[in-house]
Order: sequence, then C-alpha cells, then structure tokens
Amino acid sequence: MSRQAASVVTDRVRGELIAAARAAAANAYAPYSGFRVGAACIGGSGTIHSGANVENASYGLTICAERVAIFTAIASGDRVLSALVVYTPTAAPTTPCGACRQVLTEFGEDVSVVCCCDGDDVLDFRSGALLPERFKLVPPTEGRDS
Ligand code: THU
Repeated sequence: MSRQAASVVTDRVRGELIAAARAAAANAYAPYSGFRVGAACIGGSGTIHSGANVENASYGLTICAERVAIFTAIASGDRVLSALVVYTPTAAPTTPCGACRQVLTEFGEDVSVVCCCDGDDVLDFRSGALLPERFKLVPPTEGRDS
C-alpha cells in the first residue's frame, strides 16, 4: 500500500456529504431491521456518491449503506477516497461495521469518516484508526497446492 497524504475536506464538502447521506437514508430498503442508514463518500473526482442499506429476505445478503456508496464511487472510476459520512436517523451516531471498514481501507487508510445522526453527537475518525492491521493480500511466492 502506498502512502497517502492526509485527506482533508472543506466544511462545505463535509456539509454536502452529510446532506447526501441524510437524503440517501430515505431510500434505505430495511423492512427486516427497520434500521435505515445513509452514506456518502467523495474521492479524487470530486463527485459525491451516496448509498443506503439494502436488505434481503435471506438476511446475509444484506448490504450496508457504506459499501453501496463506496462501490458506486469505485465503479465510477475513483480509486482513492477522501471522506465518508454515515448518517442514521437515531439519537446516537452509528459507526461502520467491520466488513465496511475492510472495504473502506482498501481505498484509503486516511479517509475522513464522519458519523452523524439526529442527535448532537458527531463522531470523527480516520479509516486506518477504525481498522488497525487490516487484512492485506500478499500473494504467495511459491506455487499453489491446489
Ligand atoms: N447497517 C449499515 O447499513 N451500516 C452500518 O454501519 C451498520 C449496519 C445496516 C445493515 C442492516 O440493513 C441494518 O443496518 C441492521 O444491521
């Protein structure tokens, strides 16, 4: 993993990301948990990508809002993210699950992560701090057994 400069987003962009995450939560498909989540991220292109959680009757197929937003950004061509906002319509903020942390750190270990809600608390993190010693695939040098 190459070193990346500290990601800094302006207050204006941070506000736009929060607004996008809030708007995305309204599109959550969460009939099983009733727990709506919205996320928005920004990368090198400057485009804001948002996402909401999408649940499934086969519960394990559910995907979190964060991964929807991140995958959308990556699929549109961004490769390094600078900020991710997670919004829940709750009294306290929600932090990204472990799977989303692994996915996020693939695209930046110094991504600004902001968790906000309908209450006053706002949590600010850096992606690397949310997942120390993340899994990295080091290809084996010897031939494979199978
Ligand atoms: N969920 C997210 O979208 N993001 C998180 O950070 C935590 C959990 C979703 C998955 C599921 O639809 C619901 O919240 C309850 O777990």
